[in-house]
Amino acid sequence: MLESSITKALLRKLIINFYTKVLKDELIGPIFIAKLGDDLSGPIWGPHLDTITNFWASIALGDRDYNGSPYAPHMKLEGLSRDAFNRWLELFSQTLDTIFIPQIADKFKERSTLIAGNFMRNLGL
Ligand code: HEM
Repeated sequence: MLESSITKALLRKLIINFYTKVLKDELIGPIFIAKLGDDLSGPIWGPHLDTITNFWASIALGDRDYNGSPYAPHMKLEGLSRDAFNRWLELFSQTLDTIFIPQIADKFKERSTLIAGNFMRNLGL
């Protein structure tokens, strides 16, 4: 059954399911693995999963636990390209559709597409 409300626990599930797909992806998996390794339940990914969950909770729920800088870490990553961002968006969209009803999933898709567009523009991609 698809969820019709947004909670922090559901956002965490979204993020874990998303990165599970990401790590298996031949195009963008290696970019993440080079930076954070491949163990989603390990000590390096743990804080990243918290950060990303808080990031989306700040957007979707007005939660105040995220106070990072979303763009900065991406400037130092090797291998970013328009194709990589499009794959990221595709996997995020697929994951959203397994968890949330379309009205909610579509809002996250719109927002992530806007953010990815800004990242690409800032990165000159
Ligand atoms: C191919 C596309 C992308 C790749 C390979 C990528 C990779 C990464 C990596 C490796 C980090 C961790 C960096 C570190 O800890 O030093 C990170 C952080 C982050 N990413 Fe991405 N990312 C991508 C796209 C996106 C998009 C589209 C969004 C948002 C819609 C996003 C949001 C974030 C946020 C919020 C952080 C945490 C920043 C902080 O530390 O506060 N990323 N990303």
